[in-house]
Amino acid sequence: MLDQARIQLLRDAALKALTHAHAPYSGFAVGAALLDSEGKVHSGCNVENASFGLSVCAERTAIFKAVSEGVRSFEAIAIATRAPELTPPCGACRQVLQEFAPQLAVVLVNEKGDTAQYQLSELMPFAFTDFREKEK
Ligand code: THU
Repeated sequence: MLDQARIQLLRDAALKALTHAHAPYSGFAVGAALLDSEGKVHSGCNVENASFGLSVCAERTAIFKAVSEGVRSFEAIAIATRAPELTPPCGACRQVLQEFAPQLAVVLVNEKGDTAQYQLSELMPFAFTDFREKEK
């Protein structure tokens, strides 16, 4: 379980990342903050495009940034929006997160101060994983 200090750290980072969202088409800003196993936070926001299908979610921005810097072990992610209800990660982001962190803690936050915590394994049961392992 995450302690309160780390929840607070991730919450603040995700809410800050939210302010960088480029979401002129949906108007729905998302921020993510990913805690690696060394205690470093990698943030991300959604980045939309005029060609809508090219848009990337906040969670994938955060994990792609981290992986591209050589970080592959993660403890938790916080996801922030301005929506009145907490926003869970989309299916595509669940799939990408579980590739690197099947044990990840997922913390949902909003500007009102609501918080909920899940395990990625409960949000993404029976995930598609590396098929080569099963062929051995
Ligand atoms: N979005 C995210 O950033 N993360 C999610 O998990 C769900 C959706 C973004 C994508 C798009 O820019 C906007 O929210 C509306 O779907």
